[in-house]
Amino acid sequence: MLRHQGPPMQQLISTPSAALKGRIRVPGDKSISHRALMLGAVAVGATEIAGLLEGEDVLRTAEAMRALGAEIQRHEDGRWTVYGVGVGGLTEPDRIIDMGNSGTGARLLTGLLATHGVIAFLTGDASLVKRPMARVTVPLARMGAEFVAREGGRLPMAVIGTRSPVPIRYEVPVPSAQVKSAILLAGLNAPGTTTVVEKHATRDHTENMLRHFGAELTIGEAEEGGEAISLTGEPELLGCPVMVPGDISSAAFPIVAALIRPDSDITIEAVGINPRRTGILDTLIEMGGRIDLLNQRDEAGEPVADIRVRGSALFGVDVPPERAPSMIDEYPVLAMAAACADGPTRMLGVGELRVKESDRLAMTAAGLAACGAAVEAGEDTLVVTGDGRAPSGGATVKTDLDHRIAMSFLVLGLAAREPVALDDAEPIETSFPGFSTLLNGLGAKIAPPTGR
Ligand code: S3P
Repeated sequence: MLRHQGPPMQQLISTPSAALKGRIRVPGDKSISHRALMLGAVAVGATEIAGLLEGEDVLRTAEAMRALGAEIQRHEDGRWTVYGVGVGGLTEPDRIIDMGNSGTGARLLTGLLATHGVIAFLTGDASLVKRPMARVTVPLARMGAEFVAREGGRLPMAVIGTRSPVPIRYEVPVPSAQVKSAILLAGLNAPGTTTVVEKHATRDHTENMLRHFGAELTIGEAEEGGEAISLTGEPELLGCPVMVPGDISSAAFPIVAALIRPDSDITIEAVGINPRRTGILDTLIEMGGRIDLLNQRDEAGEPVADIRVRGSALFGVDVPPERAPSMIDEYPVLAMAAACADGPTRMLGVGELRVKESDRLAMTAAGLAACGAAVEAGEDTLVVTGDGRAPSGGATVKTDLDHRIAMSFLVLGLAAREPVALDDAEPIETSFPGFSTLLNGLGAKIAPPTGR
């Protein structure tokens, strides 16, 4: 079921809990799930996906790929099969494509559509229509596509895909895996070589999966510095099995919850630990977090481990700007750990947080201040200063259609002295269905207000 827009909002309250104990699995990786559906849709033959995230964002992508001609089935055991139409085979959708809350879905899809000779209309929810799309439409226009968007390059937007795509070489101005991926996906249906240069390495799931489906990709040092990723256009992608690991961005919530509840001891099984995603683990370990990676292995081209986490006395650290791309979605929950740590945690170079599902710098700072924590947000910095004890809590925090803000403050409420409530917990469905039930199974106390 897709989340409806607008009221009524679903409130949730998180109450100080005892130590967390047990073993869990978190839902599949969101980034990998979107890519599996999209590449499966432009491959020839069947792609069978195990562990797909069945959150609203990914369901929107499945719906979009169906609207573009792919056949997609969900089996009773939770596996999905995509029957693709081949590179260049997407057909014009006869309805508006609504990507809901998903920036990744919207931007990657824009890339795919840009080099198909179709016209498509994209929109999204109240959060997505505020987010910048020019970062993808500017380079995609150089490949020949045209876009009619609202002021500032925002959705709703018409995508007029080109019938004569031109491959480009493009240096991504902001570290963004979404921009890199949009261009590579557009490059699939362009003749010749499309090259993306990135100064700061971002998640490489698109590159890994393109290779997995049989595309030719070379990655080397760029003359300009950084990395040049070159894709040979018009490959024949072949449908293949994809195994989606647990999402480290989702695992980050129980990880921080266990760290800040003394005597906790939990294990999260089969989490993806791609080195371009693990900045949060490095940071929490530097803060004194007792985190062990067990049973490390490779599953379908992605490194995976079981993560054991024990309650820990944390201290503040400086998080350098160059680490931001490897943990960009984890700063809100890191800020909760920082509020329980001893001393200041300085998060630097995090301006991109202002253009996520919400302005995450502002929302994190406002929520923490309401919960009694010492916090300062700058243009691209966030400094949280703790005294080694959890803050007072006792506030209702606004989530502004942002799943990660919602889950972060529920985590804080487990350790705070007074409960923490959310004005609207529904956004959690976008990436982590079953969040409260899963954490409650470990001993957390997260519930709707009594009487509801
Ligand atoms: C994602 C890239 C990141 C991240 C998002 C998922 C992806 O966005 O915040 O949740 O799957 O490529 P940016 O590329 O805008 O940094």
